[in-house]
Amino acid sequence: MRTQIGIVGAGPAGLVLAHLLHLHGIESVVVETRSRKYIEERVRAGLLEQGTVNLLIETGVGERLQRECLTHHGIELRFNRRGHRIDFDALTGGKTVTIYAQHEVIKDLVAARLAAGLPLILEAENVSVHGLNSASPSIRFRMAGEEQEVHCDYIAGCDGFHGICRPSIPDGVLTEFERVYPFGWLGILAKAPPSSEELVYNYHERGFALLTMRTREISRLYLQVPHDEDINSWPDDRIWSELRLRTAVDGDWKLNEGPIFQKNIAPMRSYVVEPMQYGKMFLAGDAAHIVPPTGAKGLNLAVADVRIMAQAFAEFYATGKTHLLENYSQKCLRRVWKAQRFSWWMTSMLHRFDTDNAFDQRRQLAELDYVTSSRAAMTTLAENYVGLPWD
Ligand code: FAD
Ligand code: PHB
Repeated sequence: MRTQIGIVGAGPAGLVLAHLLHLHGIESVVVETRSRKYIEERVRAGLLEQGTVNLLIETGVGERLQRECLTHHGIELRFNRRGHRIDFDALTGGKTVTIYAQHEVIKDLVAARLAAGLPLILEAENVSVHGLNSASPSIRFRMAGEEQEVHCDYIAGCDGFHGICRPSIPDGVLTEFERVYPFGWLGILAKAPPSSEELVYNYHERGFALLTMRTREISRLYLQVPHDEDINSWPDDRIWSELRLRTAVDGDWKLNEGPIFQKNIAPMRSYVVEPMQYGKMFLAGDAAHIVPPTGAKGLNLAVADVRIMAQAFAEFYATGKTHLLENYSQKCLRRVWKAQRFSWWMTSMLHRFDTDNAFDQRRQLAELDYVTSSRAAMTTLAENYVGLPWD
């Protein structure tokens, strides 16, 4: 097999890239280890920045999104039993964020790719990348017991944090920057209408909690738990009682409860590799960087990376110039580090780190008080949350 761009991974980064390349008239083959059912049902992100939403709509894959999404004009920060609204409309000149599940975005992109009859290889085994410094790099894999190879001009490593692309780069090329947090998020999906119209970020002495949603009937709720927590120690009753404690406010607000139909624990990490390129391979999304989910930036960063990558490939195939490809890593990293800073800041402000440290708790409460009372501080939060400009 031969193509122009070989894409490893059919997550948001890989599928959005394949879609953008197609619109530029550039051929690609996407190689993914999992099944269609798996990638279309994997529960991950839910919050899309306006830039991400606009890109999906403008490129023709936002029709169902527009019909089914929930548009939000602010968030609430809750601490000391009181809620404080951050009003995005007023602070950002009318920008919004959108709730639409990541796996719904995946469904829309897979449907568009298959409808156009473009190659999407699923359930590939033993995927590996070769000749990264040669004129024709390749992706090898096993399919139905047979060895296959896709030769290409360039490879896009879009295979997430645990993929094979980044580890295929020789030792000594990449510099890693990392912070691992001593906690994770226990996330649930529950058949219960959202308890608030907008997302509620709760700071509490027992730990952080987030109230978010998927639809008007389904709540998505998260609890800070220790990083090595066993999910079996969290029966449904314990989850609800902990959520009730951490989200309690003075007044008549009530947490809506209902049957829990999905439960998992995700670790929290900040991670970046520099550069996001080696020879003919370019990394995008979680393959190159991870943010803790507190700022809701991971998927949005993945889309921002591949938008830049698609522009760079478009320039190369139209003019033969490699200027944008050479600047790919630098351009992405500028945005990545700002999202890292914001995600780290939100995480640091809202989570309990050391339960015995009274100084840090007072400092966090002072920061929340400042962020919810100073217009300058609220504006900083709002402009980062809705998404910094693309260029
Ligand atoms: P992935 O989604 O990880 O996709 C990589 C793909 O590559 C997968 O399909 C995988 O199966 C495939 N793959 C792996 N190895 C191989 C291989 N060897 N060969 C071929 N294919 C391979 N982000 C937001 O923007 N907003 C949010 O609200 C948000 N909330 C989150 C909540 C939680 C609890 C978590 C865990 C994450 C959240 N994120 C959020 C982050 C977001 O989900 C990720 O950043 C996003 O999935 C990254 O997309 P990606 O395409 O880079 O990687
Ligand atoms: C989600 O809806 O899953 C979500 C929203 C905001 C976050 C993290 C996750 O900060």
